[in-house]
Amino acid sequence: MLEVRHLIEPTDFSTQELDDLFSLADHVIQDPKRYGSQCKGKILVTLFYEPSTRTRFSFEAAMMRLGGNILGFSDPDSSSVAKGESIPDTIRIVSGYADIAVMRHPIEGGPKAASLYSRIPVINAGDGGHQHPTQTLTDLYTIRAKKGRLDHLTIGICGDLKHGRTTHSLAMAMSRYPGNRYVLISPEELRMPSYILEELDRSGSATYRQVKTIEEAIGQLDILYMTRVQRERFSDPKEYERVKDACILTVEKMKAAPSDMIVLHPLPRVNEIEPEVDQDPRACYFQQAENGMYVRMALLMTLLDETGDFYKGKIVHVNRPMISVVETEICQNPKCITHYEAALRQRFVTLSNGTRLCDYCGAVLEKSKGEK
Ligand code: NCD
Repeated sequence: MLEVRHLIEPTDFSTQELDDLFSLADHVIQDPKRYGSQCKGKILVTLFYEPSTRTRFSFEAAMMRLGGNILGFSDPDSSSVAKGESIPDTIRIVSGYADIAVMRHPIEGGPKAASLYSRIPVINAGDGGHQHPTQTLTDLYTIRAKKGRLDHLTIGICGDLKHGRTTHSLAMAMSRYPGNRYVLISPEELRMPSYILEELDRSGSATYRQVKTIEEAIGQLDILYMTRVQRERFSDPKEYERVKDACILTVEKMKAAPSDMIVLHPLPRVNEIEPEVDQDPRACYFQQAENGMYVRMALLMTLLDETGDFYKGKIVHVNRPMISVVETEICQNPKCITHYEAALRQRFVTLSNGTRLCDYCGAVLEKSKGEK
């Protein structure tokens, strides 16, 4: 069987491979007609177990613009999932119908689980509060287009850093480029999870500081990445009410920002960017959303090996260092897919320093008693 390549984690592609992907997206924007039948006869299946507007529509529009077809569901209640079908069974079935799958799932590690049973490429379109790698492709592409580089940048990431999967993926992806500095802006309750901060430490080049207000950071930023507070991920609605208005970008605050700073947002916005900021030429979020479709066109062509004469190389799935199937240990993250899907075996990745991470959700496995 041919090796199937997936996009599950934001770091699954090397930086060189990302460069190729972004150049392909540039070509598509310059000459979209040339790519109009590149995926003719191919079928994209969209498996959306959680709501989406931009991500699903931009994938569907991308496939249509490449001349391919789409099928799928945007509401799991309208599919066999409602009858209790497991992820492994669903993906096994659609592997026979379609050529590539995009999956959004409310539980961390859902798309990873699918990829282990799939005969076609699986793209993670967001898994719970964990990762959202294709949003990151869009973000990186927009930063590269607007700032001319992906290194030596000061990036303010603001909002719900605890639950915001786009912020996790962006932080991880940018830490592979040299000299990037993060200012993580959030109330204390919504700080970036420790497993992401540990990834930044491991990168050896990224530095970060944590602050509570936009005002403390805005004067020094190249990029301000705003996000909404993720109401649906709070178990206590009162907690949401307490923090929901903590960081709001206003025209007044923009006065202190550098003239060449850019404002990004994965969207949807709730109230965290005042609508008047949209008129500011530094507000790039609508352009960013449009870029998402072109980047996804490039991604679909690449994973389907339909890049034509543009790109002769192959993106290979960069496997993490070592997988050990440890059946005696279980992932301690209660939001991990292994607690929801009985058929899944536990899988852990061992890093060079001995740390073990759950291969589905990235949670660090605590050392068991007696282990050093
Ligand atoms: C994001 C997501 O789904 O995580 N939306 C998107 O895909 N553009 C951000 C969000 O929902 O806040």
